[in-house]
Amino acid sequence: MQSIKSKDSIVYFQEETYVKLNKYLKKASHSTIFILVDTNTHEHCLAYFMSQLEVDTPIEVIEIEAGEINKNIETCSGVWNALSELGADRKSLLINLGGGVVTDLGGFVACTFKRGISYINVPTSLLAQVDASVGGKTGVDLGNLKNMVGVISESEMVLIDTNYLETLPNNELKSGFAEMLKHGLITDANYWQRLNQIKELTTTDLSSLIHESVTIKNKIVTVDPTEQNIRKYLNFGHTLGHAIESYFLTHPEKTTLLHGEAIAIGMIVESFLATKLTGLKTEELDIISKNFLAIYPKVVIHKNDYQSIIDLLIFDKKNVGGKVLFVLLNKIGEAVFNCEVPKDLLTDSLDYYNSLT
Ligand code: GLY
Repeated sequence: MQSIKSKDSIVYFQEETYVKLNKYLKKASHSTIFILVDTNTHEHCLAYFMSQLEVDTPIEVIEIEAGEINKNIETCSGVWNALSELGADRKSLLINLGGGVVTDLGGFVACTFKRGISYINVPTSLLAQVDASVGGKTGVDLGNLKNMVGVISESEMVLIDTNYLETLPNNELKSGFAEMLKHGLITDANYWQRLNQIKELTTTDLSSLIHESVTIKNKIVTVDPTEQNIRKYLNFGHTLGHAIESYFLTHPEKTTLLHGEAIAIGMIVESFLATKLTGLKTEELDIISKNFLAIYPKVVIHKNDYQSIIDLLIFDKKNVGGKVLFVLLNKIGEAVFNCEVPKDLLTDSLDYYNSLT
């Protein structure tokens, strides 16, 4: 499978991944290689990954607790301390072996430790393979606010090996699939249609589609690495989606939402907004809602919770001058950014979602 080059990084796929990694490791002569894992990837992925390495460089493993709840500055402190205690220097390399939490947090730790050491992403979840590990966004949550603190700085390389997906439960695969559906909705109607024809998420079916998603994302981030314009498209579904995710994260008694599950709701409600504001046809909204609800569980969002969710929008990173700015669709396969949305429509969009069956 063809590798994909971005400005400062390169994504390798399948059989090429470890050949390229070993070649790079031999040439770069790092002082120590640190592998960051979480409790899940320690158990399910580390042994396989280590068995692929052909280097004499000392290797140390650092483990963090799994879960979005741990994607915070306290966990970073733990990793910075571990690096420091284990003697990491500027010639050290950090390899992030895990899902989006590990690649986002590990990337941030690497970019800030001793003002920056090299890092590599080995994404083990579908979400991290098609989104989090590509494009250099690193960071952590601030309280319940998603990805509030971070930097954009690309990894040396990203290694996508779909073998890791075999270790994932189905809801995690679906969570990553939401980002792939997003890629279709914002840029490519044909890709969106093909994704919707998939009956079951198997690694065999997903392999070439993952490559397509990374190609779409990479084209966007290469043109606009720092999100001044078209990278904003990638936030489709994430404005209300992140607010819903943050809200449910701090109210675990209600429901636990994976990122993709929250973003799927975000894409439905933001598609509703698009029918009112940017010309998305109601027939297209119907298709979008039907397709998402066929994959993702319907969640009840109580009217009493609407205001708290809407209040969280003021923290959205795309906001300028206190204005909440959305990415909306003109049609399936085409998006527009910097859209202002009247407040009553936000409430209507949540009502619309709740009315779906
Ligand atoms: N996850 C959206 C982006 O990388 O811009």
